[in-house]
Amino acid sequence: MVYVAIVLLIVAVLGFYLMRSKTVVNKEAVQNIMTRTSIRDYTNDSVGDDIVETILRAAMAAPSAGNKRPWAFIVVRNVSLLHSIAAQVRPHEPVGGASVAIVVCADTSDAKTFEGEGKMFWVQDCSAATQNILLAAHAQRLGAVWCGVYPLEERCNLLRDLLDIPQNVVPFSIVAIGYPREDKKPQDKWDSSLVRQNKWY
Ligand SMILES: Cc1cc2nc3c(=O)[nH]c(=O)nc-3n(C[C@H](O)[C@H](O)[C@H](O)COP(=O)(O)O)c2cc1C
Repeated sequence: MVYVAIVLLIVAVLGFYLMRSKTVVNKEAVQNIMTRTSIRDYTNDSVGDDIVETILRAAMAAPSAGNKRPWAFIVVRNVSLLHSIAAQVRPHEPVGGASVAIVVCADTSDAKTFEGEGKMFWVQDCSAATQNILLAAHAQRLGAVWCGVYPLEERCNLLRDLLDIPQNVVPFSIVAIGYPREDKKPQDKWDSSLVRQNKWY
């Protein structure tokens, strides 16, 4: 009787793990993606260095073409710099009220990029890093917004001047981050008409 019970228990445990492996295990990860939304209004609470480090680790975990990882990050906490960015690089007003802003940069030197047509893959690499920053911030109950810089020359040049960025480095985006003052519900963007099966026509 005891042996039968042990065998049944082993079968039940094995069955449980086999069933689990066929379903989405990490529901929280998907939920984090689905509930992210741009937050532009923040409280005065400071975002700790440990939290910023987690966000930067997430950024550097992004995929990159040829694993070249052409990114570099400027962490801006200086209040007058945050205000200068907000005032000069429009529409980057959210940066002015942020606790911290992360400027995602691309090192476009030859060692960090492909030759020829593939050179511009750094744009996708930095986009993936920027998205990871947004998701890591949201996962830590922070609010964040992607402020576009590249390919707008004027914004790139303003940031180069403000942050002493050298010519081979392109400021790609700024993510303003802080504790959310607004309670914003994410939009449902699902649109089945945007999905085609196998071929366009
Ligand atoms: C490339 C890019 C540039 C953006 N630039 C700005 C910006 O300069 N200022 C801003 O407030 N939001 C900016 N956003 C955020 C978008 O406005 C926002 O993602 C969009 O309205 C969808 O809203 P959601 O993020 O809440 O889903 C940018 C987003 C992307 C992807």
